[in-house]
Amino acid sequence: MSDKMKIVAAQEAIKNVKDKMKLGLGTGSTVNEFLKILSEKVKGGLDIVGVVTSEKTRVLSENLGIPLTSLSTVKSLDLTIDGADEIDSDLSLIKGGGGALLREKIVAYNSKKLIIIADKSKIVSKLGDFTLPIEVSSYEHEVTSSRIMRKLESIGYEGSIKLRLINDSIFVTDGGNLIYDLSIGLISEPYIVEQLLNSIPGVFENGLFINLTDHVIIGEEEGVKIIKK
Ligand code: 5RP
Repeated sequence: MSDKMKIVAAQEAIKNVKDKMKLGLGTGSTVNEFLKILSEKVKGGLDIVGVVTSEKTRVLSENLGIPLTSLSTVKSLDLTIDGADEIDSDLSLIKGGGGALLREKIVAYNSKKLIIIADKSKIVSKLGDFTLPIEVSSYEHEVTSSRIMRKLESIGYEGSIKLRLINDSIFVTDGGNLIYDLSIGLISEPYIVEQLLNSIPGVFENGLFINLTDHVIIGEEEGVKIIKK
């Protein structure tokens, strides 16, 4: 997505932010554009407080002067703004390309509203072209990854699973866990796959976000498109 489309989506998203709101702050390059705009509003007197979904977002937010708190302090959030890797027509998502899916899902789940900002390349008819990230415990993770494949095969999916590496080193999440990226083709029943994956000991979360999104703001060459359920 060009920076311009990210900025346009972020500019539309900021219209949903009101004084005194408690905000969930997602992760990724699109959210980074939102944080820059939010910081300008804060400097102009907007009174909000944010809960971050990653250490990257924390560092940028702190540098931009956005006041932060924790979810346990505020208990629940009014609104979360986040990005996505894929969005289907039910507004179900694949997230976790940036490796922050566990914290992103905790924050989204505890937010009254979730708005996704993205470009139109993220819209798909069915989820699954993008690999599905799964956050697992590092303890005996190879066993967990075999279990994941066997469970999926038992409901008719085939494919491959790969431990995420960054520059040939194992990628470690902010929570100290590992990510496996799963390729099983198009996912016809995202809800069933989400539940099945999360039933396996060793799996902390997966990147399927079902029934969490309120609306999606798509940045386009000529303005924005808003998709509601
Ligand atoms: C991080 C995410 C991101 O929201 C997702 O990868 C989209 O990122 P970007 O805005 O850079 O395309 O889920 O875990």
